Amino acid sequence: MIIEILRNRVNQAIIAAFGAEYGEIDTLVVPASNPRFGDYQCNVALSLAKKLQQKPRAIASQIADNLNVTSICQPPTIAGPGFINFTLLASYLETQLEKIQRDPRLGVEQVKNPQKTVVDFSSPNIAKEMHVGHLRSTIIGDSIARILEFRGHQVLRLNHVGDWGTQFGMLIAYLREAYPTALTTANALDLGDLVSLYKKAKLRFDDDEEFRHSARQEVVKLQSGAEDSRHGWELLCNQSRREFQTIYNILDIKLTERGESFYNPLLPGIVEELSRQGLLAESEGAKCVFLEGFTNKTGSPQPLIVQKTDGGYNYATTDLAALNYRIQQDKAQKIIYVTDAGQTNHFAGVFQVAQRAGMLPEGVEVKHVPFGLVLGENGKKLQTRSGETVRLRDLLTEAVSGAKKDLEARLVIENRQETPEFINKVAQVVGIGAVKYADLSQNRTSDYSFSYDKMLALQGNTAPYMLYAYVRVQGISRKGNINLDNLPSRSVELEQPEELILAKHILRLNEVLGEVEQDLLPNRLCQYLFELSQKFNLFYDRTPVLKAPEPQRTSRLVLSDLTARTLKLGLSLLGIEVLERM
Ligand code: ARG
Repeated sequence: MIIEILRNRVNQAIIAAFGAEYGEIDTLVVPASNPRFGDYQCNVALSLAKKLQQKPRAIASQIADNLNVTSICQPPTIAGPGFINFTLLASYLETQLEKIQRDPRLGVEQVKNPQKTVVDFSSPNIAKEMHVGHLRSTIIGDSIARILEFRGHQVLRLNHVGDWGTQFGMLIAYLREAYPTALTTANALDLGDLVSLYKKAKLRFDDDEEFRHSARQEVVKLQSGAEDSRHGWELLCNQSRREFQTIYNILDIKLTERGESFYNPLLPGIVEELSRQGLLAESEGAKCVFLEGFTNKTGSPQPLIVQKTDGGYNYATTDLAALNYRIQQDKAQKIIYVTDAGQTNHFAGVFQVAQRAGMLPEGVEVKHVPFGLVLGENGKKLQTRSGETVRLRDLLTEAVSGAKKDLEARLVIENRQETPEFINKVAQVVGIGAVKYADLSQNRTSDYSFSYDKMLALQGNTAPYMLYAYVRVQGISRKGNINLDNLPSRSVELEQPEELILAKHILRLNEVLGEVEQDLLPNRLCQYLFELSQKFNLFYDRTPVLKAPEPQRTSRLVLSDLTARTLKLGLSLLGIEVLERM
């Protein structure tokens, strides 16, 4: 990729100018901060000034003198205090485009060291409604998994479903009195009932001492494997699972369920291990590890509780067991956890304890990928008009019907007739794509406000805008009766500024995906695709394609086709489908 090549060349120039001992330093080649100065810039001269005891400009010119980039860019120029600027040659861009034209990966390299990576995402809780937080985790986690997979990593997508814990004791105890068939007959309830029964059970649990007692006994029964409790629990899990699966089907999400219950048999071993390592302490009767660097309001160290007074285990204990299992059994080299930012301290605590307990071998990386809240258009937590939490299924249905309404209005204006199949398909792809894109295009760490109108708009940084750019290219091929898959190679000629700008952008995909892998910020890919669509639209509005004479015509068709393929690939990495017409 271009930036890598430039980095290599700068590295060689530094060695030639100042000696091999400078071969390890970061070359600081980055995309130019301002396109007026070129395409890439190198800032290394400024950072070398102190070491070399020379002026940065002098250093820059020595590097430039030793640079061998004649086939790639115009002679580098030195600007300001000592930046080296590179402007790519049209001829170089042309060869690069011709290369990727024949490459289904569009120049995106496979990583040299594929890593076994666990992406822990979605992870809703049984007997509770999947909420917008889980939607964010699902969309962001899926996109991260897709990108890592495409880069060549071996990804295990895990759904750490909340399917274990005291809430089941409560629920089973309640169902025994209120709705016993739910524990013996499959599909006796739907998830809506289950959620409201859960709420009622919780109320009983909070008010009624006797009920609390029987709920605790149910937990013990369940944990000791009592047949009827186990059976009831499984039915409840299946009930929720079906509902989750409908959402995953709508969103085209693949993931392996491995819920909290899976790790249950391993929990006593974790507590023993912590004790063996001398890390275990007591806090108000509970077993815990006191965290270093985390204090509560009164300044005393914060505990990570691993076993409660009643002997039950915690969310954190399960996460320690899961972490250990993923490293030991799954051989994970990297574990990525996608949850709301509210769990930042939880993961910091778990990672610290794992580290101190020797569960984190060198070379294994654990990363919490936090995200902000989903807000309504009023800037407050997203709710229905009556103040309830929004059901995901309703939210997705509404996005699809919004997309359908927009499309039908457009069909009237454009005086077009389309079949119901076409209309439904377009509405589905646009509606779901819009929801995903609205989420992914935000820097995940900030809160974002959910607005159907904004996400469905044909203009702006939205899915429909990008889908439309893709459709425009397919329109060219239909209109000109051209099979874009059969365009001749070695036919790119870049002349107009819009062509050069578009070409350079197309060639940056590999670089951008590398960045996304580094920061796990899919919004960078969105931004890239948005700019690609803008640059394509500018090119298409200003330069004739079908009406251009040869050789420009074919060259511009290749550029258009590469734009479309880049959009399709990029969107697929966000989990978004494209349409041939819309
Ligand atoms: N079930 C949890 C929740 O709804 C998310 C689990 C995230 N993954 C993990 N390994 N803790 O908040």
